[in-house]
Amino acid sequence: MNSKPAPSNDTQQDFSALPKHVAIIMDGNGRWAKKRLLNRIKGHEKGADAVRAIVEASRELGISYLTLYAFSTENWQRPQAEIDALMVLLKRFLMSEQKELIKNGIRLNAVGELDRLPDGVQEALRETMASTVQNHDMVLNLALSYGGRPEILKAVREIAHEVRRGELNPDQITEALFSDHLYTRQIPDPELLIRTSGEMRVSNFLLWQIAYTELIITPTLWPDFTREEFIEILRTYQQRDRRFGRTDD
Ligand code: FPP
Repeated sequence: MNSKPAPSNDTQQDFSALPKHVAIIMDGNGRWAKKRLLNRIKGHEKGADAVRAIVEASRELGISYLTLYAFSTENWQRPQAEIDALMVLLKRFLMSEQKELIKNGIRLNAVGELDRLPDGVQEALRETMASTVQNHDMVLNLALSYGGRPEILKAVREIAHEVRRGELNPDQITEALFSDHLYTRQIPDPELLIRTSGEMRVSNFLLWQIAYTELIITPTLWPDFTREEFIEILRTYQQRDRRFGRTDD
């Protein structure tokens, strides 16, 4: 058996074994709304409330990096009205949470093809990143207009240019060098990836970075995802035996 006994309540959470970096695919906003005969956008609005709760919980628990998949490169294919609503929501979130992020020592970072975002969102991102740059307690990393394959291709192109310019010998291309060309260069790989709404997919998220990440999928739709369930998932993670291809011994 490779599992440790589960602590029985919150106070017994083993903080030493918490993941440093948790990544989340926040899925199910549309289904949450549909179940209630509401517009999908209402689901995203409720999803933004869940984002606030999980950011706060992560900070309190002492997680160092939280990466949230807020908008994928594929999401640009959604109806324009939904894209517009998501962008408005994002901008509103950035502007309204700025003070809270500063107060809680959270630094905002963003990864993805950010130049594809509307000017207003880019501006809000720049402003929030600048105003939180001195914060060191946690990094909130938003994946926006993000896709794992485009990220890998960007790294490949950059490296190919360096080789062509004679700055790099192909034999010097190591995993560490490759990682240094990804959007996440300053961030360790996530130990835990959570996906809500029960889908068993990674959907082009952090493809390189999740090579050894533990995956936990919950059927809960993102707007219903709570701090309590988050803590429960962290407990499940703590019982996993991470062997990285080695044996137990
Ligand atoms: C997936 O649900 C969710 C998204 C594409 C957007 C995620 C956005 C938020 C949680 C709110 C805004 C974010 C921030 C950071 C404030 P879906 O629409 O694919 O759901 P479905 O699969 O049920 O249709």
